[in-house]
Amino acid sequence: MPWIVGVSGASGTPYAAAVLRALLAGGESVDLVVSRASRLTLLDETGISFRDAHWRDDLREWLGRGADGKPDTFGAPDVDRVRYWGAGDLAAGPSSGSYPAKGMLIVPASTACVAGVALGLSKDLLQRAASVTLKERRTLVVAVRETPLNGQTLRHLVALDDAGASVVPASPAFYAGATHIQDLVDFVAGRVLDAAGVAHGLYRRWDGELGGTRAT
Ligand SMILES: Cc1cc2nc3c(=O)[nH]c(=O)nc-3n(C[C@H](O)[C@H](O)[C@H](O)COP(=O)(O)O)c2cc1C
Repeated sequence: MPWIVGVSGASGTPYAAAVLRALLAGGESVDLVVSRASRLTLLDETGISFRDAHWRDDLREWLGRGADGKPDTFGAPDVDRVRYWGAGDLAAGPSSGSYPAKGMLIVPASTACVAGVALGLSKDLLQRAASVTLKERRTLVVAVRETPLNGQTLRHLVALDDAGASVVPASPAFYAGATHIQDLVDFVAGRVLDAAGVAHGLYRRWDGELGGTRAT
């Protein structure tokens, strides 16, 4: 069964790329939904114009890039286990609860997406798939990216938590020995996968040793 990955229009397309690479490297299948607004963030953050008609080429190009936007950092990943659905395709598989899926990861999640899912708007396939994931009591991970957060968004996030979603703010930590931007990206991507129970080796876990040596 696949994981559904929804990419919405918040800053943070490198987080999505890191999650997608890790899922595929781990042998998982992915159903991918890319919101219309996220094409703007992807263009801004990578220079890639994501096209429905050429999604395989554009996805390969995107996943080959690291957080610095440089091409070929990760080579050309195998996207054979990705099934792509257009954001406006409300008849797509993930729009129904009878479509088999392990759950859904929204990474990054915009505040508009958070609101839409919290209120059950289903304004596009990404939001509909998230609502379906909740109603089917499957794992939903929402990697919200915005700062500061207003009360409205905070209330929507509480509603998502109450509905059973895991809210994983895209906020990198610095205890895992980060030396590059990609390390910070991989930490957030790793925490998203932790929330979904997916094994990965994206970051160094805390082992109780401050700076490598425990103070006595
Ligand atoms: C370059 C760029 C960066 C953006 N960054 C964020 C962000 O970090 N968080 C956020 O909530 N919205 C951000 N937005 C606004 C969203 O794209 C906008 O609210 C959009 O309607 C989200 O739609 P979607 O949830 O369907 O993808 C950004 C927009 C642009 C163009």
